[in-house]
Amino acid sequence: MTPELTVAEQAALTSGNDAWHTTPVETAGVGSITVTDGPHGVRLQADPRDMLRGQPATCFPPAVASASTWDPALLRRMGEALGDECRAMDVAVLLGPGINLKRSPLGGRNFEYFSEDPLLAGVLATEWVNGLQSRNVGASLKHFAVNSQETDRLRVSADVDMRTLREMYLRAFHRVITRARPWTVMCAYNKINGVYASQDHWLLTQVLRDEWGYEGVVVSDWGAVADRVAAVAAGLDLTMPGPDPAGDKELIDAVADGRLDAALLARNARRVSALVGKAADRTPGGYDEAEHHALAREIAGRAVVLLKNDGAVLPLDPDAAQSIAVIGEFARTPRYQGGGSSQITPTRLDDALTEITATAQGTVLFAPGYLTDATAAQESAAQDGETEAEADRDLLAEAVALAAASDIALVFAGSAHETEGADRDGLDLPAAHRELIEQVAAANPRTVVILSNGAVLATAGWDAAVPALIEGWLLGQAGGSAIADVLFGRVNPSGRLAETIPLKLRDHPSYLDFPGEHGHVRYGEGLYVGYRGFDAREQPVAYPFGFGLSYTTFEYGQPSATATDAGIEVRVPVTNAGQRDGREVVQVYVSLPGSAVRRAPRELKAFASVPVAAGETADVTLVIDRDDLAYWDTRLGRWVVEGGEYHCAVGACSRDLRGTAVAEVKGDDARVPLTTDSTLGEWLADPRGAQVLGQAFAGAADTDGMMAAAFSDPTMLLFLSAIPLGRMAAFPGSPLTPQLIADLVAAANS
Ligand code: BGC
Repeated sequence: MTPELTVAEQAALTSGNDAWHTTPVETAGVGSITVTDGPHGVRLQADPRDMLRGQPATCFPPAVASASTWDPALLRRMGEALGDECRAMDVAVLLGPGINLKRSPLGGRNFEYFSEDPLLAGVLATEWVNGLQSRNVGASLKHFAVNSQETDRLRVSADVDMRTLREMYLRAFHRVITRARPWTVMCAYNKINGVYASQDHWLLTQVLRDEWGYEGVVVSDWGAVADRVAAVAAGLDLTMPGPDPAGDKELIDAVADGRLDAALLARNARRVSALVGKAADRTPGGYDEAEHHALAREIAGRAVVLLKNDGAVLPLDPDAAQSIAVIGEFARTPRYQGGGSSQITPTRLDDALTEITATAQGTVLFAPGYLTDATAAQESAAQDGETEAEADRDLLAEAVALAAASDIALVFAGSAHETEGADRDGLDLPAAHRELIEQVAAANPRTVVILSNGAVLATAGWDAAVPALIEGWLLGQAGGSAIADVLFGRVNPSGRLAETIPLKLRDHPSYLDFPGEHGHVRYGEGLYVGYRGFDAREQPVAYPFGFGLSYTTFEYGQPSATATDAGIEVRVPVTNAGQRDGREVVQVYVSLPGSAVRRAPRELKAFASVPVAAGETADVTLVIDRDDLAYWDTRLGRWVVEGGEYHCAVGACSRDLRGTAVAEVKGDDARVPLTTDSTLGEWLADPRGAQVLGQAFAGAADTDGMMAAAFSDPTMLLFLSAIPLGRMAAFPGSPLTPQLIADLVAAANS
């Protein structure tokens, strides 16, 4: 039993000791723990003067890539490996995963987030957390909540309606919190509807704890706390980084003068102390660098999305006596992660050029093709009189000549950089990369483009010219070898898009409302985030959500769907109809025709990544949880499952649905009480309301025949339907008196 802490000790315990440690309270036997980033590797600070550089650790694929595997079991293994590395480095809490929705393709941290879909993000993150915490290392689920942009990120208010908030932006958090119980949750920097997440009592206490039953620690994002007293009262337990003597004093003063309930500070301190105690159970560990590198390679290989493969250009035959032109600096100097707090110092770094050279029996020649940020800096340092534009031109000419003289050209291109702290300014490839692709493709019809990017790039306009296109994201330290695995068919691609690739930025649902201005961003597209918005407007896209090719083909049999108390069970046979073993990601999209609320035409409700050997058939069962069918009813302030025939469309991606099965689901009791403010139409649509109203009218003196006319004339009825019952008393000749209306309300709700 820990001795009682003084108010001063409680205040100290609820702020950090430094950037990465909690404050010990020795008198009470409370130690200190290390917390560090996160999420795709362990970034344990190596030098006290350099907050960003970490000690070497495995740089696993960032979330943009790991999400493209659509495989929770793989994410679990990644979490376990991260847990082992944390134990080896004495880290108690790893600051991840980041599960904010990719609202716009311009989001600067999209590379750190999983998806534009809350189910996919939630399912993957749940297993990541389960894996990590199975090693007795805590996760920090971030950034809670609605942190989907970098512009003005420490101040902006994300203005979002309640249904969208619940169904889209909080839904993945709810899933992970209730199913994986992360030790900590990190609050976001931004405001939500005008209130800082760090000071939002509704978010941090009512929703998180009272509704979802969360018992862990809420930690601030680094520097997110504007008002320590308000944050403690709202339910924020640990302010980071520290120390924060001025804030500690504010708390002590606020308790002394009664502005802050002493019990709240004591409660928060107790939670931090419990976290420290829990972490003490962790046993030191070690890990095998080579094994973790191999796992990073496996995940990266599974993350690669094959977008196009006309004429089966891929896979390449490693034994063929062909000449391969490897073009593009990214083949030699890989882009494998984004900038900011998640930047890992890798234990080793594979590049595609070395791996391709080691694999191919034929000749492999390289041309850099363009300058990168780093090579441009070297170029200007060399001061050989050549301008950057001239250097680019020379590199382009050299690459095109090499492509023309080779049997096949592999062009590595992508975005120049993505980083925390800044949103992207567009979806276009750097001009030099685009020109390189176009000219190489003109010189060699067997051109394969391999992209490296942290968020989607527009492909329309140039992808028609190339027969094969690989989306290689940012793949972590083993990305280079993983790309070679896919190119040469050692890995049969099974990555699927976790975000839509639009034809152009202005097609995107978020386009008109991103990133906002003057401190506010309006989430104007509401529920229609990502593919939901494209589908609702039947808008063409470059590559749809869920899309990805394989070197084999899969055929779907007839799906069936059965409603159960727990939700819906969907079954479908999937056959590998090609010559190679492969893996299909079976996806179920649900709709409810005739729903009483607005819905996207299709919503992902279940998926499974299934290995299927060549010629074999897998009987795949997918379970849709009843909770995932619910919508947030703003009138009742709660989740409601609407009864009806749910259409479960099963297929290979959101726009390649192979069959539909229907399940009749019994709805929740969700009657909205009738009031004087309910319209005549609402009264008549409600069986009890219609009954009591009918009885009342039958017995009332209808002096002007108004009611009789209304009920017999459909146009008149439509006209009257929009009027709240309470207002009808004011109409001349109305048989409704205020007393009668009050009686009707009582009768209708009795
Ligand atoms: C980021 C967090 C990160 C923290 C600590 C913040 O700037 O938003 O994701 O965990 O710094 O580095």
